[in-house]
Amino acid sequence: MALNDLKSNPPRLVLGVTGSIAAFRAADLASALSQAGIQVDVVMSREATKFITALTLESLSKRPVITVDDEPIIEGIPAHIALADAADLVLVAPVTANVLAQTALGLAGDVLTSLLLATRAPIWMAPAMNGKMWEHPATVLNVETLRGRGVEFIGPDTGLLACGYEGSGRMASVAEISHKVIAFLRPPK
Ligand SMILES: Cc1cc2nc3c(=O)[nH]c(=O)nc-3n(C[C@H](O)[C@H](O)[C@H](O)COP(=O)(O)O)c2cc1C
Repeated sequence: MALNDLKSNPPRLVLGVTGSIAAFRAADLASALSQAGIQVDVVMSREATKFITALTLESLSKRPVITVDDEPIIEGIPAHIALADAADLVLVAPVTANVLAQTALGLAGDVLTSLLLATRAPIWMAPAMNGKMWEHPATVLNVETLRGRGVEFIGPDTGLLACGYEGSGRMASVAEISHKVIAFLRPPK
């Protein structure tokens, strides 16, 4: 990746992927968005790599994927800073309760949370978690904090969750998320 690769035409999305059971849906998301003419740079948490491979996301986004163990230096700048500066939008889908809490606290313990602290691009998050985790006062407060800083949330939806419970915590559909991202990054002329 070269630095002049980091200018914003086509529009640039950083897609953060975290360690949720919904992480496999990031594959469809990366595919839909890159087919819509958006340059998608995927940044994965370490836990996310247990749920979906970087190889899958690399094939579908047609871009190198950044992981904790494989963060390149781009013309002297660490990827989490270069991508934070180049992004037109940062979307974390799915976002875990953990990354949501870390972001609310301003913790920067890995490549994705560092990028979330470094970027001045809009940040959108699509949560996915057990309903009790989503409704826990700690998560509610974290979401309020992040909303207060301008972070936008897509979903979660209500329904049958992967953990076997019914409730709120399903990641919003790939169709809904990609529709919103495309409308923002590639608005009709
Ligand atoms: C099978 C399985 C599914 C999980 N699904 C979720 C989930 O949907 N949402 C969530 O917040 N945590 C989920 N977790 C817990 C996270 O993986 C765990 O908190 C992890 O540390 C998150 O790391 P990350 O936030 O750095 O990606 C799951 C754990 C397992 C074992």
